[in-house]
Amino acid sequence: MIHTSLKKKFSYCVLAFCLFAVICVWKERKKGSYYASLKVQTKEFQEPKSLEKLTTGSGFRAVPSSSTQAPHRRSQTLSPRVPRKAKPQPTFQVWNKDSSSKNLVPRLQKIWKNYLRMNKYKVSYKGPGPGVKFSADALRCHLRDRVNVSMVEATDFPFNTSEWEGYLPRENIRTKTGPWHRCAVVSSAGSLKSSQLGQEIDNHDAVLRFNGAPTANFQQDVGTKTTIRLMNSQLVTTEGRFLRDSLYNEGILIVWDPSMYHADIPKWYRNPDYSFFNNYKSYRKLHPDQPFYILRPQMPWELWDVLQEISPEEIQPNPPSSGMLGIIIMMTLCDQVDVYEFLPSKRKTDVCYYHQKFFDIACTMGAYHPLLFEKNMVKYLNEGTDEDIYLMGKATLSGFRNIHC
Ligand SMILES: *[C@@H]1O[C@H](CO)[C@@H](O)[C@H](O)[C@H]1NC(C)=O
Ligand SMILES: *[C@@H]1O[C@H](CO)[C@@H](O)[C@H](O)[C@H]1NC(C)=O
Repeated sequence: MIHTSLKKKFSYCVLAFCLFAVICVWKERKKGSYYASLKVQTKEFQEPKSLEKLTTGSGFRAVPSSSTQAPHRRSQTLSPRVPRKAKPQPTFQVWNKDSSSKNLVPRLQKIWKNYLRMNKYKVSYKGPGPGVKFSADALRCHLRDRVNVSMVEATDFPFNTSEWEGYLPRENIRTKTGPWHRCAVVSSAGSLKSSQLGQEIDNHDAVLRFNGAPTANFQQDVGTKTTIRLMNSQLVTTEGRFLRDSLYNEGILIVWDPSMYHADIPKWYRNPDYSFFNNYKSYRKLHPDQPFYILRPQMPWELWDVLQEISPEEIQPNPPSSGMLGIIIMMTLCDQVDVYEFLPSKRKTDVCYYHQKFFDIACTMGAYHPLLFEKNMVKYLNEGTDEDIYLMGKATLSGFRNIHC
């Protein structure tokens, strides 16, 4: 009798201990999961140009939530300096603005080096930098002064020839738009799914979306308003549905196509990345009243130069992502820009786009854009809180219109 009851007691104790241990482990894992998953997802940073451009939703080509994350330091507020009795401030593990290529897994480092070696666009950056330090205010001014956000005009050769007569919008984009106070830039990230951000996004004066990112069936999460749609040239060139899908008939369209490093318009025109010009004309004939602009091909490289200037190491010699271009475009047109899911929120996911059941294949194959460095810059310029990033994937940047330099 004594034996069995002792045995029983013992086994209860063991059971209780096991349970306790399981709970402890589970709690620990829960704490670390965001952090860990971000690290695990490093592999998803890569995306070759062909694949990334093919996916029509690839506004943010390598998807924010699944892109490279440097290990995130736990916030300082958890340090022992905080008095014990003080209620600990909630802390949020978000993008580290000092992420570097060292945070990439070896395979990704190799790809990044391959791009450096390939140098497809014949980039010959001579400085200043790399690694020039700016205050956030100074960097904002620097971007404003160095990156000329403007569109190809009807007076630019060869768009001034008879072949192009009547095709480019006559009105300057700046008279066509705004000025707007609060603007939203909505990525196509899978992590927007179930975000319930639709209303918050629609509450902005203007909303910029990317490529084929839809709103129908996703209103709850991404809103309904589309004021500007920024598209890459591959979509315009190769997507059959571009000329047919009513998705594109709303708002102002802008297409961009990478030139060789700092090539002027005539040089770029002879050798575009994707020859989208015929489809552009076809679309203009079908929808002559919808503003449809072509981004000056110099602009992405002007932006790239600043990214390289402030980054402490060599960045991929490929143009910035559509996401980064869209952010800068909106900064020129708005007082304030809220960017959704460029810096990843807690809604980490393997899904590349909120509108496609597309897992990591396209996102796992290349590190084409200098996305890591773009995110470092956006985090540095962010004037919102880490909580906003963590909960909503929202970064808030001041536009160029009201800053004093
Ligand atoms: C920006 O580009 C446009 C078009 O080429 C040009 O007219 C304008 O002077 C440029 N602005 C700056 C600040 O370089
Ligand atoms: C188009 O622009 C180029 C360069 O500015 C100029 O030399 C040419 O005469 C212009 N052509 C027409 C038809 O206006």
